[in-house]
Amino acid sequence: MSKLIHAIYIYSMALMVIAITIFIGLYGYAYYQIPVQERFYHPHYDWFKPSGIFGHGLGIIGTLMILFGVMIYIARKKYGFMEKYLRLKYLLEFHIFLCSLGPVLILFHTSFKFGGIVSIAFWSMVAVVLSGIIGRFIYIQIPRSIEGRELSLNEVKETQKSIIGKLKDFEQIGIDIEQLIGLNSQIGGMGPVAYLKRTLALMDLKKKLEQKNISKKQSRQFVEFVKQEWIIAGRINRLNQMQKLFKYWHVAHKPFALIMLVIVVIHVLITVAFGYKWIW
Ligand code: HEM
Ligand code: HEM
Repeated sequence: MSKLIHAIYIYSMALMVIAITIFIGLYGYAYYQIPVQERFYHPHYDWFKPSGIFGHGLGIIGTLMILFGVMIYIARKKYGFMEKYLRLKYLLEFHIFLCSLGPVLILFHTSFKFGGIVSIAFWSMVAVVLSGIIGRFIYIQIPRSIEGRELSLNEVKETQKSIIGKLKDFEQIGIDIEQLIGLNSQIGGMGPVAYLKRTLALMDLKKKLEQKNISKKQSRQFVEFVKQEWIIAGRINRLNQMQKLFKYWHVAHKPFALIMLVIVVIHVLITVAFGYKWIW
């Protein structure tokens, strides 16, 4: 997948989540904003209530999205399902898409009414989504192959060496490469201050490059390699810490998903027992 297609893939999924959230929010606003006790008298009560055609449908479709988003990811990651065609990295993005849109649909299914034991499933879902956002952040800190496999320390160091090699090809332009590499560790950390310092340092570097006798394209390439080296050096420093953190993270993300699944199964069985069958 080229960079452009990948960007279109990600942004279209993100836009879809935002657009659908806004659409349903506006569409049902008149219903969702009235107090629960008064909703019964609303002309579209039978449409929007959790057991109504629309509300119930959202619960079913949202749950199916989450189930599919989790199952396909586990099938590919653990059991090598369609290994040749499904890249783990893209599938994780698809997991995030389905498992973000699904919870949004379920939120509207509940019609913002969180009663009974099923509310535990709802709050577990919120916990899984929030932990997912944190997990995604840790995930990208761990260097991976194009397929999404975690790289070993040696493999990452090899990549770093090749980037430094590319930087050294520019040595004749009269910029001290070692000093540039050292600057990154001097700044250290990954907080907003460090980010700002790095941005300023790169701006400074760009200015210096303008005075050198090289083309704009070469200058852009050089800055890109410096950025890549700084990123990879930071990731190597934090690799051990991030790998441990990611292991602990799984301990939070998975059990909440399991609690949610168990309670939703009970919830669905109860509603079916009470005769709520949606359109069937
Ligand atoms: C993660 C998935 C789900 C969550 C968190 C969830 C949550 C809820 C909540 C909070 C309510 C409102 C309870 C109340 O009235 O106080 C509700 C009602 C309901 N849900 Fe779900 N739900 C989920 C999935 C489903 C699915 C898959 C179905 C159907 C197959 C379903 C069918 C219903 C029905 C029929 C009601 C109305 C029950 C009644 O009025 O007594 N739900 N759900
Ligand atoms: C209700 C929603 C969600 C459920 C039920 C869910 C469930 C799961 C499960 C069961 C796994 C474990 C797969 C494995 O065995 O490695 C997983 C992995 C993961 N999920 Fe979710 N997830 C949800 C939402 C999200 C969201 C919203 C994000 C990010 C914003 C996210 C990010 C991740 C990441 C980064 C992994 C780890 C991938 C890996 O280790 O290979 N999840 N999810």
